[in-house]
Amino acid sequence: MRAEPLAERANRRRFLKPFAGEALSPPPMWLMRQAGRYLPEYRETRAEAGSFLKLCYSPALAAEVTLQPIRRYGFDASILFSDILVVPDALGQEVRFVEGEGPRLDPIEDASGLSRLNRNATGEKYSTVCETVSRLRSELPDETALIGFCGAPWTVATYMVGGKGSTDQAAARLMAYKHPDTFQRLMDILVDSSVDYLSQQVEAGADALQIFDSWAGSLADNQFERWVVAPTRVMVSRLREKYPEIPILGFPRGADQLSAHFARETGVDGVSCNTAMPVSAMAELADQTGKVVQGNLDPLLLVAGGSQLDERVDEILKAMQGRKYIFNLGHGILQYTPPENVARLVERVRRAA
Ligand code: CP3
Repeated sequence: MRAEPLAERANRRRFLKPFAGEALSPPPMWLMRQAGRYLPEYRETRAEAGSFLKLCYSPALAAEVTLQPIRRYGFDASILFSDILVVPDALGQEVRFVEGEGPRLDPIEDASGLSRLNRNATGEKYSTVCETVSRLRSELPDETALIGFCGAPWTVATYMVGGKGSTDQAAARLMAYKHPDTFQRLMDILVDSSVDYLSQQVEAGADALQIFDSWAGSLADNQFERWVVAPTRVMVSRLREKYPEIPILGFPRGADQLSAHFARETGVDGVSCNTAMPVSAMAELADQTGKVVQGNLDPLLLVAGGSQLDERVDEILKAMQGRKYIFNLGHGILQYTPPENVARLVERVRRAA
């Protein structure tokens, strides 16, 4: 497949413009977790699917929920509906989602746990997800970009080793300290499999990629280097070799002062910033690194709504004016977000000229 040059694709899909070097006003916008339980139509499709993972593995229904926020709000980008835990699930570490409690996995505790993973088992699940990507590319409006994604190896490993979400990622951090060779082997498997997964998403029609490292902020700086920066750098360089122009966004949530270092060292094209990053620091990050910056409205402010929401949106837009910037939240939309507040936000961002 001969890829269309980025500059040409960006002429049709404004989300891609900042990656082609252009600062836009109003900036392109989309929201993390823009498809989800805050939308009644999502809850309906989710009920039809029967379970969250069945929804992820049903191309027709997964494409439908991806399109729902695009129909309502006309965002500049859609994001494939799936989950970062598809990767361990496809590798043979079965994932279950317990209602109201989040994901559950049989934890990998040592080297013998690693031997249960099968790198060659991912074919069917990855191709099912990629069928969603190709359906979407034909069903989306031509002007809407499609973002493919995966979890970063570190964040995915925290679930694989801990067996569930946690506030401190202690199980994975401890394995990384006590058994670094075993942990490195797990990370290598995740790097290989994630590159394979993202490559298939690009082949199926993804316009850009985002790597979610939601727990990057729990690591000491030397560990951040080894488990966040190094594996991401390998992933970016391998993807870049195959797809020189595909924009890649990193989301090292909580990386704070290490964000510029992350941006330079990994070679990502853009960095997504969490809410705690000062807007002045987001502007500096853009200026110092020359990368695209995305973020970072507080998702809770989108629940609150009102004039506080408007004022903060204006502050962020003003700070990022003239820079290669994509409007987004600092983390995913919360379940109890009123859909009308999202409409208010979109209107406010689009007003900016
Ligand atoms: O719209 C989109 O952003 C695309 C879909 C998407 C989902 N999860 C759907 C989802 C994306 C990009 C993700 C990423 C993801 N998944 C991350 C990284 C970003 C982040 O939020 O930090 C992580 C850590 C996960 C793992 C995960 N998935 C957890 C911990 C949970 C349970 C918590 C919860 O909100 O219930 C999920 C479930 C999940 N993933 C839901 C959705 C819409 C809700 C499940 C449901 O409908 O029952």
